[in-house]
Amino acid sequence: MPVITCIEDLRVLAKKRVPRMFYDYADAGSWTEGTYRANESDFQAIKLRQRVAVNMENRSTRTTMVGQPVAMPVAIAPTGLTGMQHADGEILAARAAKAFGVPFTLSTMSICSIEDVAEATKAPFWFQLYVMRDRDFIERLIDRAKAANCSALQLTLDLQILGQRHKDIKNGLSTPPKPTLANILNLMTKPRWCLGMAGTKRHSFGNIVGHAKGVGDLSSLSAWTAEQFDPALSWADVEWIKKRWGGKLILKGIMDVEDARLAVNSGADALIVSNHGGRQLDGAPSSIQALPSIAEAVGKDIEVWMDGGIRSGQDVLKAWALGARGTLIGRSFLYGLGALGEAGVTRCLEIIHKELDLTMAFCGHTQIQNLGRDILLPGTLPRAL
Ligand SMILES: Cc1cc2nc3c(=O)[nH]c(=O)nc-3n(C[C@H](O)[C@H](O)[C@H](O)COP(=O)(O)O)c2cc1C
Repeated sequence: MPVITCIEDLRVLAKKRVPRMFYDYADAGSWTEGTYRANESDFQAIKLRQRVAVNMENRSTRTTMVGQPVAMPVAIAPTGLTGMQHADGEILAARAAKAFGVPFTLSTMSICSIEDVAEATKAPFWFQLYVMRDRDFIERLIDRAKAANCSALQLTLDLQILGQRHKDIKNGLSTPPKPTLANILNLMTKPRWCLGMAGTKRHSFGNIVGHAKGVGDLSSLSAWTAEQFDPALSWADVEWIKKRWGGKLILKGIMDVEDARLAVNSGADALIVSNHGGRQLDGAPSSIQALPSIAEAVGKDIEVWMDGGIRSGQDVLKAWALGARGTLIGRSFLYGLGALGEAGVTRCLEIIHKELDLTMAFCGHTQIQNLGRDILLPGTLPRAL
């Protein structure tokens, strides 16, 4: 077993263990993948101010996200098909998050259902909603999340239509994988994954199959998405969803100051500056570049969070310094899950927490709550939008 010291180690191991079509599903952006790459590289360009001879004892990264205490300002992002990175992946990641003290978000497009995760974790988690044309189904989905005791709803606004990811088309992404020669040959090199899958009955979209009318076989994700996701979604829908849900509401996928103001007007509790991990509009700025102007414009009126490109605790700290009061991690936790299951997600959270804690200290701070933009070297900040 290799020694795992950073998220990149988890990525390399996940690539070995997860079937190609699911690894590629995670490690991909849309079209040229330019925004996907910029999400990471724009973080790296930001430099930190090192301070010395400051008492570094008694440090804390604790804070709250929508009023919920968290061990650090990091939540697990909603990701579709997580149960294909590893058998029962959503349940394992939810357990790891709960034990670490950070929120877990279950995607509408998960393999394990809302009820599966509630039953297995016995702790409140967050639910992410995609709005589909079938409003009866959406109302029932919201009600199921309430019944499962979910403590916040993340409404994703940036996927009314699907960005094109070349690899998914080339790999014929489907769940479960179709028994083509190429898939069979690839699966033969992933014995652990196959063994895990043989031991679970969760192989398709648990929130949808058997719940949405007329949906039995969902093997073609992109065809189903094109058919079902509602391209007419509007701010009026946000209003009825907020009413129906009645709890904490988080709007995900905001990249523009004008949309951020509309998010404030909607009465939501938080917004997530996010370009969907570079998977939707290729050519959009990186999330860390979009963050400062949004945080400055509406940070006093709503909790501003961000996601996209976070691969270390240093990235979390930089986002915090630029005004994010919370962050979400997608691929970092998926790599941990694909590499080592629940232990891999725990390892991912430990790595990020340690990097965050030590970097905060190197920058001369002991409490994340007191830390601001002055830990960053001004000339290295992303150009204002
Ligand atoms: C494989 C994968 C699947 C995703 N599925 C969803 C989803 O079902 N719902 C959603 O709102 N966002 C989804 N996202 C976007 C993430 O929630 C998050 O915005 C993104 O992963 C953050 O970027 P990062 O992966 O660089 O951390 C997905 C991202 C990935 C990588």
